Amino acid sequence: MTTTAAPLLEVTGVTMRFGGLTAVNDVSLTVGEGEIIGLIGPNGAGKTTFFNCLTGLYVPTEGAVRFRDTLLPPKPHLVTQAGIARTFQNIRLFANMTVLENVLVGRHTRTKEGIFSAILRGPGYHRAEAQSREKAMELLEFTGLAEKADHLARNLPYGEQRKLEIARALASEPGLLLLDEPTAGMNPQETRAAEELVFAIRDKGISILVIEHDMRFIFNLCDRTAVLVQGQKIVEGDRETVQNDERVITAYLGAPLEGTNPAVTESDQ
Ligand SMILES: Nc1ncnc2c1ncn2[C@@H]1O[C@H](COP(=O)(O)OP(=O)(O)O)[C@@H](O)[C@H]1O
Ligand SMILES: [Mg+2]
Repeated sequence: MTTTAAPLLEVTGVTMRFGGLTAVNDVSLTVGEGEIIGLIGPNGAGKTTFFNCLTGLYVPTEGAVRFRDTLLPPKPHLVTQAGIARTFQNIRLFANMTVLENVLVGRHTRTKEGIFSAILRGPGYHRAEAQSREKAMELLEFTGLAEKADHLARNLPYGEQRKLEIARALASEPGLLLLDEPTAGMNPQETRAAEELVFAIRDKGISILVIEHDMRFIFNLCDRTAVLVQGQKIVEGDRETVQNDERVITAYLGAPLEGTNPAVTESDQ
């Protein structure tokens, strides 16, 4: 790749309207190489819709999404191929496939072997399959799921299903990972482990954009955090900037930000 001053992800003026509802309103955001960026906001603020606009699930009404200095076509498989992977707020695993098989599904955009090769099962197929399995097992080791490789996805506890979604997303070898509420339904221990996992992913050279309600999680992890309220980005910055912003406090019903998560005041030093 040629060197460029452009950020890894550059979102410019993205608006998403559904009939009369403007779910995302003129939002711009950048994510640089190696950055962890947070996206917070009340329920219904447009966070997931924003992700959907980045990943080709929705075609934004207005605006542009550039990744590695190239305009992204609004087609999910092309976005994945370009190097953006995501997890879903509502877990989307193949419940009746094994943990390993779920990760193998995530790898298919990176294997050259096409469908005919898979049907004919020639030597190329077997070589590619062995390599894919090896890579998938590495990811299961990395996410701490290796011992459950042969379990059905639906039998995993909730926290591990979220980890499996991350492993599957990583299988597409992304440069940017989008996480939509990765700790929803996790207990405090699992949440702390998830923080470690996010740092470890960043240390692999993958940038991260994360939607989360757990403020401690967000402020522990993120280099910058953007706040969406009613589709608009009202503020973006470090912990101080976000927590002291009057509009943010008002958006969270007048309560200080910590008030949205009792764990912050209890265990924050
Ligand atoms: N496909 C859709 N059709 C119509 N309205 C939608 C659609 N997707 C999201 N919305 C609406 O957009 C708004 C933002 O939703 P969402 O992005 O899920 O919020 P958040 O993730 O911040 O909780 C909500 O009012 C939601 O009902
Ligand atoms: Mg959402």
